[in-house]
Amino acid sequence: MYTTMYGLFAFLIFPQKQSGLFLEYIHSSQKNATDAYGITGFEGLTSFYGFMYHSQKRLLPLIIDKTIQTKGPIVVAITGASGSVYALTLIRWLAGNGYQVDAIASETGKKVFEYETGTKFTVRAITNGKGLLTIHDNNNLFSSLSSGSSKQGKFSKVVIVPCSMGTLGRIAAASGSKLIERVADVALKERRRLVIVPRETPLHSLHLKNMLELSSAGAVILPAMPGFYQKPGSVNDIINFMVSKILDALDIPNEMYTRWGN
Ligand SMILES: Cc1cc2nc3c(=O)[nH]c(=O)nc-3n(C[C@H](O)[C@H](O)[C@H](O)COP(=O)(O)O)c2cc1C
Repeated sequence: MYTTMYGLFAFLIFPQKQSGLFLEYIHSSQKNATDAYGITGFEGLTSFYGFMYHSQKRLLPLIIDKTIQTKGPIVVAITGASGSVYALTLIRWLAGNGYQVDAIASETGKKVFEYETGTKFTVRAITNGKGLLTIHDNNNLFSSLSSGSSKQGKFSKVVIVPCSMGTLGRIAAASGSKLIERVADVALKERRRLVIVPRETPLHSLHLKNMLELSSAGAVILPAMPGFYQKPGSVNDIINFMVSKILDALDIPNEMYTRWGN
């Protein structure tokens, strides 16, 4: 409700039609980035320095600046499986290449992300101030991403990376109660691209069955299984290979590693 009010206010001040925005929250007054409300679909702004209402009804300073041509939006969901560096690299690549990114992390996903990458799960820490990233609260089922009918939050592509066996099972059973699971469900029912990057080893038959169910429902199952034929010289090469595979599955042109035959 508060972000809607704010959007209307901002639109009235800057009625110029533009295709995208650079958004940056100032985090000094923000304890927890996953509390941040998503602000998407703010077409019509050039630059704005002001305030936004926080979910806990605190006023936050906000900068909207540097209008840029954006593509997307693309939803990147992060769950509590190992391999969150793939998500970090993917978001940085997308945001750095002009894509609007909507990120959501599960509670454990956020903890594992911060533990494994040493990067705080905040807009500023993830993007280093470059690109358009919005972090959504996984508990906020009132999010604009929640409904297939929402124009404001309309996304065409979703990637869950890394995807835990828990989230995988809940999506396969169509019985999720968090935003990540709802967004995946919307992607499937609306026939949008859903890329799932599961990570666990070894796998038992229920894991495999859930993957088969999701593949049959239209999801792309893209396991975190890096190849070695490109002869990686570093861990970064291995990460880039996986991220490139994810971008390929999202139909996003990229050259993050030397492809076979090049
Ligand atoms: C450091 C760490 C690594 C984990 N790695 C995996 C993993 O690779 N795959 C997995 O399915 N679960 C893994 N888990 C367990 C999940 O985090 C746990 O099942 C959690 O409930 C998943 O919740 P979520 O799907 O809501 O994120 C890991 C947990 C921790 C703390």
